Formats: sequence, C-alpha cells, structure tokens
Amino acid sequence: MRALPLALFSILTLVSASSKRNYGENNYYVIEHDDQHVSLAAVSRALGVEVVDRAGELPNHWLVRAPKVSGELGARSEEGDRVLDAYARLRARSQNSARSARGDNEARTGAAIKYISRQTLRQRAKRAPPPIRQPKPSEDARAVALRLGINDPLFDKQWHLLNDEQPEHSMNVIPVWEMGYTGKGVITSLVDDGLDYTSDDLKDNFDADDSYDFNDHEALPTPKLREDTHGTRCAGQVAAGKNNACGVGIAYNSKVAGVRILSGEISDVDEAAALNYGFQNVSIYSCSWGPPDNGAVMEGPDYLIKKAVLHGINEGRGGKGSVFVFASGNGAASGDQCNFDGYTNSIYSVTVSAVDHKGLRPYYSEACTANMVAAYSSGSGKSITTTDKGTNKCASTHGGTSAAAPNAAGVFALALEARPDLTWRDIQHLCVENARMINEADGDWESVAGGRMYSSKFGYGALDALRYVQAARNWNLVKPQARLPTRTVQIEGGTMNPVGKYAGGQFIGGGGATSVLSVNWDMLQDANFEQLEHIVVRVWIDHSRRGDVEVELTSPGGVKSVLAEKRKSDNANTGYPGWTFMSVKHWGEDMIGDWTIRVSDQGSADHNGTFLGWNMVFWGSVIDTSKAVLYEVSHEDPVLPPHEEPQPLPPTTATNTKTHPKPTSYLSIEETTSTAAAPATTSAQVDETTSANVDAAEATVAQSLPTPSKEPSQISLIIHALQRKLVVGIILVVLASLVGGIILWRMHSRASPYIALSGEGNVPMSDAHSRPLADGDESDDDADERTGLRGDSYQHRGFHSGFLDDEEEHEYPPSAGRVSPSYRNERAGLEGRRSPS
Ligand SMILES: *[C@@H]1O[C@H](CO)[C@@H](O)[C@H](O)[C@H]1NC(C)=O
Ligand SMILES: *[C@@H]1O[C@H](CO)[C@@H](O)[C@H](O)[C@H]1NC(C)=O
Repeated sequence: MRALPLALFSILTLVSASSKRNYGENNYYVIEHDDQHVSLAAVSRALGVEVVDRAGELPNHWLVRAPKVSGELGARSEEGDRVLDAYARLRARSQNSARSARGDNEARTGAAIKYISRQTLRQRAKRAPPPIRQPKPSEDARAVALRLGINDPLFDKQWHLLNDEQPEHSMNVIPVWEMGYTGKGVITSLVDDGLDYTSDDLKDNFDADDSYDFNDHEALPTPKLREDTHGTRCAGQVAAGKNNACGVGIAYNSKVAGVRILSGEISDVDEAAALNYGFQNVSIYSCSWGPPDNGAVMEGPDYLIKKAVLHGINEGRGGKGSVFVFASGNGAASGDQCNFDGYTNSIYSVTVSAVDHKGLRPYYSEACTANMVAAYSSGSGKSITTTDKGTNKCASTHGGTSAAAPNAAGVFALALEARPDLTWRDIQHLCVENARMINEADGDWESVAGGRMYSSKFGYGALDALRYVQAARNWNLVKPQARLPTRTVQIEGGTMNPVGKYAGGQFIGGGGATSVLSVNWDMLQDANFEQLEHIVVRVWIDHSRRGDVEVELTSPGGVKSVLAEKRKSDNANTGYPGWTFMSVKHWGEDMIGDWTIRVSDQGSADHNGTFLGWNMVFWGSVIDTSKAVLYEVSHEDPVLPPHEEPQPLPPTTATNTKTHPKPTSYLSIEETTSTAAAPATTSAQVDETTSANVDAAEATVAQSLPTPSKEPSQISLIIHALQRKLVVGIILVVLASLVGGIILWRMHSRASPYIALSGEGNVPMSDAHSRPLADGDESDDDADERTGLRGDSYQHRGFHSGFLDDEEEHEYPPSAGRVSPSYRNERAGLEGRRSPS
C-alpha cells in the first residue's frame, strides 16, 4: 500500500505548498487518511474538498479546503459545515454497514478518514526583552577577544559570554571555543517572528533551505513587521558570526534557520508543520513563546501539534530526535507557573528558566517542576546584547526567558558538534547531570536523587557550556525510552463525562485530599522499566476557583514536587479536566513504593471543590533494549470513566470496536504504545482510560461523539468503530438468552457515553517518507491566496518577554539621536510588569 498514495498523489490537482491560505474564502481541514480503504482522491470527492498540501511532515495527514458558501459563517460556525456534515454521513454509513458491506463505497470512504478537524487561526506570541545599564568596558573581555581573534565590537558587552563583574555567572562558552567547538555543522531553527538573513552578523550562518514563513507562506522568513525583531535577536545569540558586526553567538560557526509563525495568526496545521520544518537537517528548535503568561490560563498544544512534536522526537534528526527548547515563561510576577503551559511541561521540551548576571532569579522567570535548567538572561539591571534586525544593527535590551532558551540552544549546538549522536534524551540527561547550582541560599533547593539538588526556579541549575560539552564528549548514550502508566484512581466515585461534567469525588476541605498509587518491582519488570526520568501526573479536580488549588506529589523517597501552587489571577471555575502536570524532579529516583498526591485549596468560604481522580505515567529507560518501543500520541479524551470490573465476555466481543474521541484544547500529551511491539502489561498497570480492552457494551454507547464543550471552533471527529453495529448484533444474537439482559442493563445504567481508548491512532513508524510534492504543482488561481487575518476569536500565545523597562538599541556605529522603537508586548499580560530590582 505504500506506493499507492504517492501514485494517486501525482494525479491529484494540488494547490501549491507555498500558496498562501485564504481563510476568508475557504474553510481548511486536516484529514488523516487511511489508505487501506479508498484513495485520497475519492475521499476528497466525497467530502467536496480539494487537497492543498501534506500536513507538514505528518504521514498520511493532508490539508484540504472547501470554498465557503455564502451564508456560512465560516470559522465560527460548526453547525452547518458542509464538509463535516458530509463526513458525519459517511461515518454513520460506515458504522451502519459494518463488515458485511465491503462493497459499499460510502462506508469505505468513511472508514478511510481516521481524523478530521477544521483549522482555525490563532496567534502565537513571543516571550522576550528587558533593561540595561552601560557596562564598563572590560580589559579582560578584550584580551580574550584578541586571543580568539574576536573583533566583534560589542563582545565586551556580552556578559553572558564573559562576565567580568561576576565571572562565575556566564554561559562559560569561551573554554569550549578554545577546545575547538563552535557549532560547525549544527543547525538551529528559530521558530519565531522571522530572521533577518540580510544582517551582516547572520547572513553567513543563515540556512535558507530550512527556513520558511508560515505567516505569509513564503520561502524566506523576512521579518516584515516593525516589531519583528525577536527571532533575529534570538538567532544572534546562537549563531551571530565572528565578524565585525555586533557580538558573537554561542555557536558562532553553526547555522540558523528561521521559521516564522509569530507575526500573525496561524492554524494548528501550520504550527505543526513549523515544528517539523527541515527536521532531518535541523537539530534544535528554539521556541521562545507559548500561551499567555498572565497566570490565568491553562493551555497546551492541540492534537496535531503534539503529534508533530512526537514525530520530530521519533523521526527527526535521523531518529535521534529533534531537540525542542522552550522558554519557561515570563509570568512569575503574575503568579504564572510553567506547569500550566502544555508546551513547557511536555516531556519532549527542554524547559529553560532565566538567571541574571548576578546569579539571581529574575522577577519574571516562571517556576515549576518542568524546569530543567536555567540560562543567563536579563535582570538586575543588565540585558542580553545580540544582533538586531537591520544590516548592521545590534540589540542591547534583549532578555526574558525568551533569551534564556536560545542561550541553552547555543550550548546544545556546541555539544552536538562534539557528539552528533546524542539523542534528545541524552541532551536532557546531560542537563540534569551537569547543571551548576546557583543562588544557593534560595530556599527552594531540595536534595534529590543522585546527590543532585533541584529547584523549581532553576531546575537542576545553570547550564554551563564547559561542563556540558566535556560531559557530552565522554557520554554513554542512554538506553531507549520506557513508559509505565499507572491505573487511574477514581476517588469516591469521581467521574467526568465527555462534556466536562464532574460527578462524585472527595471534598477538598480544610485538610486537603490525598491519594496513593503504589509501584512494585513486578510492575517495573513487566513494563521493561529500569531508570526513572520524567513523571506525568494527570488530575481531575472540580473547583469553583482554579487558582486556589494546590497540588503536590511526594515520592516513596520523600521528594516533593509542587505541581500547582495557588495562582492569584486564575479565577477559572472549570477545574482541572484531566490536565497533566510534569515533573523532572524525580529523575533517577527509586520508584518502588507509595506515591502520594495531595490536593488542597485555600479553605475559603466562597470557593471549594472536589478531587475526583488521577493517574501517573512514569517515563525512563528500558531494561531490555531489544524490547523497546516507540510511543505515539493517541487520541485521548479527558473523561474520567466510571470504574469497571473486568467483564467476562466471549472473545467475539473483543474486536476492534474502538472509538477515538476528539482531542480537546485542554489535553496534554498522552501516549500509547505503538501497536506492533507493545510490551506485555498487567491489567493493574494499564490506565483504564487508555486501555484497548473495550467491552462491547461500552462500544455500543460510544456511538455518539460528544460535542466539544470548550473550544467549539476545534471540531475534531475521529472515526474508528466501523464494525460496531455488527459486533453489537453478534453479541445480541450469541448472548441474548444468557447475558443480553445484563448487557442492556449495563448500557442503560451508563447514561453518558464514556469512551474507552485504544492505540489505534498510532501512526505506522515506517511511514515517514519525505514530502512527495512536486514543486510544479502550483495552480494559478491559488498562488495569490492571501493570509486571512480576520479571525475574531483566535487565541493568543503570550510573548515570553514582557517587562522592557529601559528599552534601548544600539546601532553600530551608533547614529545620533535615533529614537528606539519600543518593543511591543501587549499580549503577554502586562499587568505583571514591573522593574527589575
Ligand atoms: C539536508 O542534508 C542533506 C545531506 O546532509 C542534503 O542532501 C539536503 O539537501 C539537506 N536538505 C536541506 C533541506 O537542507
Ligand atoms: C461550596 O461553596 C458553595 C458556594 O460557593 C456553597 O454553597 C457550598 O455550601 C460549599 N460547600 C461546602 C461543603 O462548604
């Protein structure tokens, strides 16, 4: 079947990959096509859409479009969407006709669409810059510059490279340069607002092949808007050349690509494509942006984006994995924490917080147990000096966690020159083991496994290039990844149905609510699990004020991860509908014993809530490398289903009657084993909500997919249960006289359509072919499609900037009397803005 889609592809009339989108005139959808049934062309015909392009690098995912018809309210209206209606008909058809109707074309077409979602536009925004004072010219800096032949005029202002006042506080890269590592052969992609490839400082290190503008759908990431300086500044930190312009980058002989997504609204499919752009040649994706840092939102990447991230992890860099670096966020002053951001709390991100030139935590830098390391950035009166947009222009006011992330990316580029074989997990292990403790008096440091210290503000400490690269040179690659999901604990009958309605659960009250999950030796053996790395904790908590809730997890060894602290700005009354937190604090710990979660609130008279359920996924390394499996994102629903006793049903009922519920905006990444080589797991280990062990009764009630309650613009319908009706028929015939009544009673007693999940959303790992699009496929009428920016309900991604006090720029040579443009940052929640101390 592999060759089939490619062959079909060539006869399709395709809209060019490079054509701009026109959201004003078209609706866009992403479909996941199962080519075992019917061709993509037939699917397109049946849905009344035309294929635009592949959906980034995701295998079998296609971007399609249909013109809006007059009267259709476009992106807002999901009722009356012709394409989704057509899809619903096909799907109903495929369910009704079941196995017998092999000849039914509509049924097979319905079965060929594994997933469809309409694309909506949203704005991602940056996380960037702060304040400066004129640094004193430094004789030492000049001496080093001379020895290394660095003539860059602003090098002596780059305290993050060489700090004369506090020599211990720098990225410590100069000794690595002296070892001969400068990033040669490594490409870092700045996923941002563009990259000024005409800059004298960047033009020699610019990688055009791996650059793209997803805002304007053009080949080059030209920073067109006045405020499009962020990506260029970040790029300068990584790879500004050793030349006569501004300063130097940490990996000044490495290459940088620019992928532009922050200068306007984009849809999930484009964000997904951006995070995989050039993913064979690009090693590092540096991301200094995310959901708003206002301390009021709890948001993560949607399904397609999570899928792209995992695709990069599993397939990127020749299978060694893309290195995703994320800024932890600038919302600390607003009470924000990086565990409320699904990008920074993904296990696939190296999350980087900020530390200033004095080794202090800047007021903006967010804490949480997803922080892995800290890197130097603005604070205590000094900022980061780097390249700016313009031919020979420099910035001296760069900062925020936005500037911390590229400093970390630069260090990883140095390490990957020394050791190109490091996997994405080796990069993380090296962070954990080689970061340097700073600000030791801070009370947040806690002694953790392996004699290390951990702080939710700085992670394992400040990233030190010399220590990192030296360790990398002698590093033994880690064994493949292992996964151990626990069962889901339901507390006092706690449930949440697909529309987010909670029932049952334990009242949190004054003393808080606690619950325990135990891990024993057998569970580790069964899961082929050797050494702990990340822990993902999923919770269902109903509360009338989310910001009051605090969640902490304590390990058998007594190490405590504070997963949620109270958030003063968070007044949401939607609770935690299956939200996932992440902790790297337990890295290397002994897992055996009791893991205790404690949920508490502020005991206020006005607000209260209940704790309904939770589970954990332990991630680490395998015992037996030969039994390792790759994980894929599954369609995961946040329901907390009623606890079920295993049901003695005949084998005929254990068929593939599975339904993937639609993804929702509040999902965090959940993975399931790939189908082929899943390790044996005991029922005790398998999370009930992800179990593929669907009983027939459950399948019958899973017919109607719920409508999304939270984000109506993100319609996502997932098909699977084509044989459901037949299965039900068989069950009824075979069992009618014996257990039919019992089954019917159970169906009836489960009024809400709880959905059991399976691993069927898995992408075949073999299917990662490169994009087959011929460049000549562009059709004339599409080349001029314009990006529609009219969306009126898009969501914002917050800048990780946010507090530029004395904004200032340097031109070199300086021109007199120029007024600096102020760095626009209105999306970051500026209510938390204040001056650094
Ligand atoms: C990626 O690298 C390979 C070989 O290193 C090269 O042939 C190919 O052209 C590169 N692709 C891009 C997009 O740079
Ligand atoms: C919880 O809060 C609501 C109002 O916010 C109140 O009516 C109710 O009595 C409270 N429940 C308890 C058990 O305190």
